[in-house]
Amino acid sequence: MSFTALRIDKSGDGFSRSIVERQVDDLPAGDVLIDVHYSSLNYKDGLSATGNPGVTRNYPHTPGIDAAGVVLECATADLDPDDAVVVTGFDLGMNTAGGYGQRIRVPAGWVVALPSGLTLHESMLLGTAGFTAALCVHKLEQAGMAPGVGPILVTGATGGVGSVAVKLLAQLGYDVTAVTGKAEQHELLRELGATDIISREAARDGADRPLLKEVYGGAIDTVGGEILFNAIKSLRYGCSVAACGLVDSPQIPASVLPFILRHVNLLGVDSVQLPLGQKQEIWEKLAGGWKLDLSALEERLNLESVSGAIDRILAGKMVGRGVVDLTASVRLTGQGS
Ligand SMILES: NC(=O)c1ccc[n+]([C@@H]2O[C@H](COP(=O)([O-])OP(=O)(O)OC[C@H]3O[C@@H](n4cnc5c(N)ncnc54)[C@H](OP(=O)(O)O)[C@@H]3O)[C@@H](O)[C@H]2O)c1
Repeated sequence: MSFTALRIDKSGDGFSRSIVERQVDDLPAGDVLIDVHYSSLNYKDGLSATGNPGVTRNYPHTPGIDAAGVVLECATADLDPDDAVVVTGFDLGMNTAGGYGQRIRVPAGWVVALPSGLTLHESMLLGTAGFTAALCVHKLEQAGMAPGVGPILVTGATGGVGSVAVKLLAQLGYDVTAVTGKAEQHELLRELGATDIISREAARDGADRPLLKEVYGGAIDTVGGEILFNAIKSLRYGCSVAACGLVDSPQIPASVLPFILRHVNLLGVDSVQLPLGQKQEIWEKLAGGWKLDLSALEERLNLESVSGAIDRILAGKMVGRGVVDLTASVRLTGQGS
């Protein structure tokens, strides 16, 4: 059985992209064969498509760190043919052929049953980015964050994780301060529910000072570096930052002062290896009380247009969520599987 996929090839010093026909028999071994209807674009897909060895080492490769679709075959008792499912994280799209192909084959332990309150399309409009935003909010609330504790800072606010975080926090009754480098997107951020907007430069102000004024009741950071440590230095007493990203820097220029003088917490957030039961719990929330209308954030992509969007996300220019429609017909641009 053949299917269409985006393939990244290592060619000399660089990496090229083409749309090819692949064979199901060439997919890795696994319990569950899935007919992928939608995937999405995440920053990590950009890294995988451009040869970042921390994400993908083996080429040729098909990226796509998330996928939503329908079970075709399952070798275990967990799932039946025609079940609607979502896969995010684990090794999908890293060194396992990912959601930018119309078929994936994965272990049953990677597969979440799609909750009844979400469609396949809605699940990928959220995708890994939206799931991670929800995981950040969940972890912050477990650490004591609640509406009324003070404004919540969201960095990288027009990006995938950031934009969904702004929308979710606002819907849950929080005041949200959005940090963005895109002056032209302030209106979108206000529509999503941001009460205040500050520039990236303002978010870096005071990087040389040991502590900053106590302003925030919590923060979701997608960028790392100086902006993350400034967020920590600006937390109110006892509050927390959830750190999930590194688009600016994987380093933190930190001291212990905010931790030992203000009792604040730095919470790590990883959506990739999170145990399946906890993944299911977050998806259930997103299908129920945390259901979001994200239509204002959608950019609909297919296997042809995702290539340009990969370049934009790596340049920090993507806004909102790119949903990759695997049911759309596209032209093959390469040969072989
Ligand atoms: N831990 C996890 O499980 C997990 C899961 C998903 C994503 N992530 C990570 O979270 C981060 C965001 O992912 P994403 O998919 O939301 O990416 P994205 O859509 O590209 O969003 C990142 C946003 O950060 C801002 N930005 C870009 N370059 C910047 C810079 N140099 N300094 C400060 N801000 C900058 C931009 O927003 P503005 O223009 O609005 O500032 C950009 O849109 C990535 O590092 C990704 O790997 C981690």
